[in-house]
Amino acid sequence: MSSPTHRKTPAELRSARWLAPDDFRSFGHRSRVMQMGYAADDWKNKPLIAIVNTWSDANQCHSHFKQRVDDVKRGILQAGGFPLELPAISLSESMVKPTTMLYRNFLAMETEELLRSHPVDGAVLMGGCDKTTPGLVMGAVSMGIPFIYLPAGPMLRGNWKGQVLGSGSDAFKYWDQRRAGQLGEQAWQEMEAGIARSHGTCMTMGTAATMMGIAEACGLTLPGASSIPAPDANHIRMSAACGRRIVEMVWEDLSPARLLSRAHFENGIACAMAMGCSTNAVIHLIAMSRRAGHPVSLDDFDAFSRRVPVLANIRPSGDKYLMEDFYYAGGLPGLLSRIRAHLNTDVMTVNGRTLGENLQGAEVHDDDVIRPVDNPIYAEGALAVLRGNLAPDGVAIKPSACAPHLLRHTGRAVVFDDYPSLKKAVDDPDLDITGDDILVLRNAGPRGAGMPEWGMLPIPTKLLKQGVTDMLRLSDARMSGTSYGGCLLHCAPEAAVGGPLALVRTGDRISVDVPERSIHLHVSDEALAERRAAWTPPPARWQRGYGWMFGQHILQADQGCDFDFLETTFGPPVPEPDI
Ligand code: FES
Ligand code: MG
Repeated sequence: MSSPTHRKTPAELRSARWLAPDDFRSFGHRSRVMQMGYAADDWKNKPLIAIVNTWSDANQCHSHFKQRVDDVKRGILQAGGFPLELPAISLSESMVKPTTMLYRNFLAMETEELLRSHPVDGAVLMGGCDKTTPGLVMGAVSMGIPFIYLPAGPMLRGNWKGQVLGSGSDAFKYWDQRRAGQLGEQAWQEMEAGIARSHGTCMTMGTAATMMGIAEACGLTLPGASSIPAPDANHIRMSAACGRRIVEMVWEDLSPARLLSRAHFENGIACAMAMGCSTNAVIHLIAMSRRAGHPVSLDDFDAFSRRVPVLANIRPSGDKYLMEDFYYAGGLPGLLSRIRAHLNTDVMTVNGRTLGENLQGAEVHDDDVIRPVDNPIYAEGALAVLRGNLAPDGVAIKPSACAPHLLRHTGRAVVFDDYPSLKKAVDDPDLDITGDDILVLRNAGPRGAGMPEWGMLPIPTKLLKQGVTDMLRLSDARMSGTSYGGCLLHCAPEAAVGGPLALVRTGDRISVDVPERSIHLHVSDEALAERRAAWTPPPARWQRGYGWMFGQHILQADQGCDFDFLETTFGPPVPEPDI
């Protein structure tokens, strides 16, 4: 895209429709702004900038947003704009049950309608904790006014007795040790106080770090914004810079429709692969791209994964480092500079320059944290998509986080219909299972359960005690980006809508071949047809309210789990509100 040539005039501002006319309605709007102590000089002929803030007392990852929003406002005022803070649901990944995935589209709807219904010309979106990045971006893309994304940034490294602790990953690891009787209560409690010791998002390469990085690679943040640790003073400066820049974006009319292309999302995929991304990236990036009218698919992910190596040595794909180290090593610009050959560097970004221009001078300062391409963490990308009679619409796996001997494996299925019965069974010392079996959970997909992060199915305690540290696990659920292991996820179509996963029985044999990208259930088509004839769908989980609407309208994982009616292709564009 070439640089915008037309600069908006004050009369063309969207907010002017509310505030400029000499009529009865506008009298009301102006008098209500004055009610807050502002005078006409504060807003007249200025872009009104929404700050969509996902702060809440329940979201520890965004606790600094209460202060940062003032820094964003400072930038907006400096640049001659007028800020309006609009709070949105904060979606704390750790607190919201049954899963924030149930509410990602809720945030997307809220963002779209907040921006549409208020007198705003542009927006700064403040998010970071897992679903907030895609939720905010999806909504703002659909609404269509210029926006800039301000990532919360990762928290500092965890610390326990001088040992580095990583969000999620280390909790899972030490919990397994505790279950195996190798770790005492005292140590466990000390870890509780050391694993999350500043504001900011999870500092492993979980969904938060993954999606913040993808937002930057898609050109939706200022350069370098996604890697700055939340408590760093640079994060304060970045917040003010976002405020300054969005005002200019409004005058330039740099709307998402003018900014975004398919190449932006392909850059997002390439970046995801090199980061060693969370498996959730697939669902969110597909959903974001479909909102923008430039859909990417599972096949795009798989194609990139075959050519872009994992370079970020960040847990859980990497063995040592965390996001704080990543920042010191050059952060996302450093990483992107190493995969330049896989990026479309001509695409425009929110700062009005191309990605290539932004990457000029980007460097890596530590080759062990951000590896050179000839010494990757994993020679192929972070994700693989397998297909077969068990998953016609795909199943995702993170090969870099899976024990190598499981990448080609045939085993006996041990099947559970719901999570509570699985949870109970894994502690049963008499459970009939070996480390060669494949643990299967179903009815945990989008329609079945809102697609919670149950996909890192717990390894049965009995096997942990035998020293089993990884086994194949298959489900239609997702898993936390901080999880690891031989987990086959997002199996589509899901069991609750009658996908083949619904037909598997304990004792069936399943073959998984990651290099060949295949998954096969060794049951004949005839036998499967018989089982299908006898299958009845499980009852809907939610019979009223938001959950009911979710169940009616949620799309499958391979389509990004958006609501069908929120997709860009669903109907004609929503008109601007009558004023
Ligand atoms: Fe917020 Fe992990 S809990 S990013
Ligand atoms: Mg997470």
